[in-house]
Amino acid sequence: ETIIRRVDINNIDNNIIVEAANILQNGGLVAFPTETVYGIGANSLEIDAVKKIYMAKGRPSDNPLIVHVAGKEDVKKYVTNISMTAEKLMDRFWPGPLTLIFEKKDIIPDNITGGLSTVAIRMPSHKIARSIIEASNLPIAAPSANVSGKPSPTMAKHVINDLSGKVDMIVDGGFSEIGLESTVLDVSGTTPTILRPGGITKEMLEEVIGSVSIDPAIKSSNKNLVPKAPGMKYRHYAPNAELIVFKGKSDKVVSHINELVNIEQQKDKKIGVIATKQTEDYYDCKNIISIGDKNNPEEIASNLFRVLREFDEMNVEIIYCEAFSKKDIGTATMNRLLKAAGNKIINID
Ligand code: TXA
Ligand code: MG
Repeated sequence: ETIIRRVDINNIDNNIIVEAANILQNGGLVAFPTETVYGIGANSLEIDAVKKIYMAKGRPSDNPLIVHVAGKEDVKKYVTNISMTAEKLMDRFWPGPLTLIFEKKDIIPDNITGGLSTVAIRMPSHKIARSIIEASNLPIAAPSANVSGKPSPTMAKHVINDLSGKVDMIVDGGFSEIGLESTVLDVSGTTPTILRPGGITKEMLEEVIGSVSIDPAIKSSNKNLVPKAPGMKYRHYAPNAELIVFKGKSDKVVSHINELVNIEQQKDKKIGVIATKQTEDYYDCKNIISIGDKNNPEEIASNLFRVLREFDEMNVEIIYCEAFSKKDIGTATMNRLLKAAGNKIINID
C-alpha cells in the first residue's frame, strides 16, 4: 500500500514531513515534488534502499542516480575535491535546478553511481523537497519518479499512475514549476561540460565560470556518439504514441500537419496535435492541446511532459508537434522533445 499525502507548499504540515523522513530513514521509498520534476527518494548510503529505486522504476542498473542534499556544506562529505569552479556555481545556482558531477568518496555506494567513480549532487530549491531531505538528515538519491522511459512526472497524479504500489509514500505538493529535469554539469575534469541541458542554460553558466562545453553526443543524432550521462542514451520521455516533430515556417508546418491529420483520421487513426497559443485555432484535428505561448519558453517547458501524458491517457496513436525555439530553456525542451520522438524531426520548406 502506498500512502498518499497532500502537502500545501505555503503551509507545510510538519507531521507529514516527519512521516516521510521516517520512511527514508528506515530504508523506504518516498516520492516528492521538486522544482524540476517529482523525484523518488531513498537513502543514498543504504545499498538495499537504492536497489529498491531501480526495481520500482525498472531502471537499467548502469544509469546512476543524483544525490540530493539540504545544504552546500554536505557536499564535502561525499566528494574528494571541490574546485573553485564548483564553489562558484554552488554559490550562484544552489538551491536550484543544477546538478554537479564530482569524483566521489568511498562512502557513496557503487550501486548509486552505476559503478562510475563520480557522483551527481544537487540541492533542490523546492520547499517540500528541502524539508523532507533536511528532516531525514540523509543524502537522498532521487531519480525522476516515472517508470523508466516514460515522460518525467510534473504532478502527483503522474507518479500515482506510474508508481502506485511500488513506493511507500507519495507526497502531493502540486505542480513542479520548471517541468524539465535539472541541468547536469560535469565539473570533475578540466573543462566543465553539460551532460544534460536544463533550466540553467550554457549562457547562464558561462556568465559565472567562463567557457562551458556541451557533450557532443547530446547535440547530434549520430548514434556512434555515446553520451557521458548514461541516462541520455536511452529513448526516454516517450509517450506510448508515435511522436513526430515538424520544423519550418509556422504556416507551412501547420498546413503540412493538417494534411497528415486528414489522411490519418480518414484511416480512423486517433491523432493528437501539440499546438501553441499562436497556432491552436489553425489546426483541423479532433485532439488539439496547446502547450502555451511560443514566445514563452518557460511555459512550454513546464507543460511538455504533462501534455505528452495527456495524449497517452486519450490513447492517441500519433502525435504531431511543432518544433520550438531553442532560446533559454528551449534547448532543454527540444532535447526532451526529440528524445521522446526518437529523433523523428521533419523539415518543411
Ligand atoms: O531535476 C532532476 O535532476 C530530477 C529531480 C528529481 O531532482 N532528477 C532526475 O534524475 O532527473 P534522473 O535519475 O532521472 O536523471 C539523472 C541523470 C541521468 O541522465 C544520469 O545518467 C545522469 O543524471 N547522471 C547521474 N550521475 C551521473 C554521473 N556520475 N555521471 C554522469 N551522469 C550522471
Ligand atoms: Mg529520469
